[in-house]
Amino acid sequence: MIDIIIDDKKICARENQTILQAAKENGIKIPHLCFHPALKPSGSCKLCGVEVASPTGKQVVMLSCILKVKENLKVKTNSELVKAKREKAFNKLLQMAPDSTRIRTLAKQFNVAVTPPPNGCIRCRLCIRVCNEIVKAKALKMVKTQTGSRVVPNPGCCIGCGTCANLCPTNIIKIVDQGSVRTVSIKQEIIGQLPLERCEGCGNMFATSNFLKHVEEVNLTHPDTKEHHKLCPSCIKLMSNRAITERERIKK
Ligand code: SF4
Ligand code: SF4
Ligand code: FES
Repeated sequence: MIDIIIDDKKICARENQTILQAAKENGIKIPHLCFHPALKPSGSCKLCGVEVASPTGKQVVMLSCILKVKENLKVKTNSELVKAKREKAFNKLLQMAPDSTRIRTLAKQFNVAVTPPPNGCIRCRLCIRVCNEIVKAKALKMVKTQTGSRVVPNPGCCIGCGTCANLCPTNIIKIVDQGSVRTVSIKQEIIGQLPLERCEGCGNMFATSNFLKHVEEVNLTHPDTKEHHKLCPSCIKLMSNRAITERERIKK
């Protein structure tokens, strides 16, 4: 048997065992993905790094799935040096497999901060800009998080106009009309949930009360607003076609 010290704890390991195997047998957790007990180690994932003293005395990180036990070897599995290398290794793997829940769960178990999975937002800010500059609802903003910038709602500001969803080049903002409620959301996060009103022509639900109120306020002076803003696009088209036909009939 060989005595080694892992995280200040004396461990009795078997000859020819790797540090990872000895740690596992003694309930000491080291993250690993490419190790398999039936196969020769390959050192590919780089997650299993541990800190040891090199022959020159310098502290270095070595792969515990490859490194063999040695009498009185002192091993640290959670030093700052190990944590830095581990974070780098996790993020490198996630670059290749960003949606892997196994890697993300493992990273969480070892408290490693990793980049969030891509949510389809290319950070073009079109949604934020149109909501601020044209709609003037200021319902969206970009926030910096530890893991990168992302678009988030300003609670209670969305009027449910749908302009952001129409402009979003990657289609990650969704508008869902269900019964008498419109929900605007970005991924799983709700931007606004608002009651819908019926078109005064056909009776179909078509726009949110907040949006219609907003149109009234913004375009109060325009003569068409008062008459037509409570009609859905199909009914407005029908009306204007009728008006054109009527004008042509009078001309004749
Ligand atoms: S749906 Fe809401 S967030 Fe989108 S542009 Fe309209 S007010 Fe802004
Ligand atoms: S949600 Fe869409 S429109 Fe807004 S920043 Fe992201 S990609 Fe651009
Ligand atoms: S388990 Fe993948 S490098 Fe050691």
